[in-house]
Amino acid sequence: RETKKTIHIGFSQAMSSDNWRKEMEKSMQVQASLYPRVELEIKSANNNVKSQIEQIKDFVEAQVDVLIVSPIKSKPVTTAIENALKAGIPTIVIDRKIESNNYTAYIGANNVDIGEDAAKYILSGIREESTVVQITGDIASSPAKERQLGFESVLKHSKKVKLLATIHGDWEKPSIKAPLNKLLDSVNPDYIFAHNDRMAIGGWEVLQQHNIQNQVKIIGVDGLYGPNGGIQYVKDEILLATILYPTGGAEAIDLAVKIVNGEFVNKNNTLNTVVIDSVNVDLMQNQFNKLVEQQNDIEGQQEVIDEQVRAYQSQNSMIKLMIGL
Ligand code: FRU
Repeated sequence: RETKKTIHIGFSQAMSSDNWRKEMEKSMQVQASLYPRVELEIKSANNNVKSQIEQIKDFVEAQVDVLIVSPIKSKPVTTAIENALKAGIPTIVIDRKIESNNYTAYIGANNVDIGEDAAKYILSGIREESTVVQITGDIASSPAKERQLGFESVLKHSKKVKLLATIHGDWEKPSIKAPLNKLLDSVNPDYIFAHNDRMAIGGWEVLQQHNIQNQVKIIGVDGLYGPNGGIQYVKDEILLATILYPTGGAEAIDLAVKIVNGEFVNKNNTLNTVVIDSVNVDLMQNQFNKLVEQQNDIEGQQEVIDEQVRAYQSQNSMIKLMIGL
């Protein structure tokens, strides 16, 4: 009997602490389970650039068939990825970019578009002059740089919306609370645009402290479903809107398999985004519920198959014992 070679995919994840990353990993695992030959190994760098560089080296040494990396920061991870490619390992960059073109494929949404969409959304909803405070993610990671670029490029051409201030966060809530708290002593914005929903909720908590949570409209990014996800916050009218930032986990696995099979893949693969607000939030929630049901079905079926394989294997060894093999 011919045994087909397994496809070893190594994924170096920036961190696994937040739900967006957990969702990315889950969708990768579910997608990987659809390919019998794929073995997916996930290592999380816990937001530590040095560990991420080490992990990439380890995967190169292990000679994985495909490496997937979601870089913590763009610049410091660039050389590690270039070296992986030099060592002959096809490398997919996901979500956050590196500062070079030396990778096999990139997959992620267009973050400049996300920034532009946020600004256009504000512009389309106002009658008179309005003001906004921007809260960025870690500016050393490409999504923050690009969201800021897109947002400001639209506002530059508009006389109706004034950008009062930009606070630089690190993607997590605690990083923005003190600076926003201080800022709100002197300014009174109509809008807050935060580069992700976690910081957006941090913003809302600070607004509550100032008792102005009903006066300031908040727009976030990510649009996760489930409890503490952006979709629920839009439904609860805590966020005015959120912009969907798909994780691309499933698509990255498909790309990896295509690369191993020698099929053509595009170098840059752009995922779609959409603004989620009160108009379409129910529709989006329904779509995600269906998707989650499907994922759970697949996982359930996988368990049944695993169980059958185990039963088969133990019967097989029993028979071998009985016939003295
Ligand atoms: C998750 C996250 C998201 C954000 C993305 C940008 O770790 O912070 O909230 O959209 O990373 O890379």
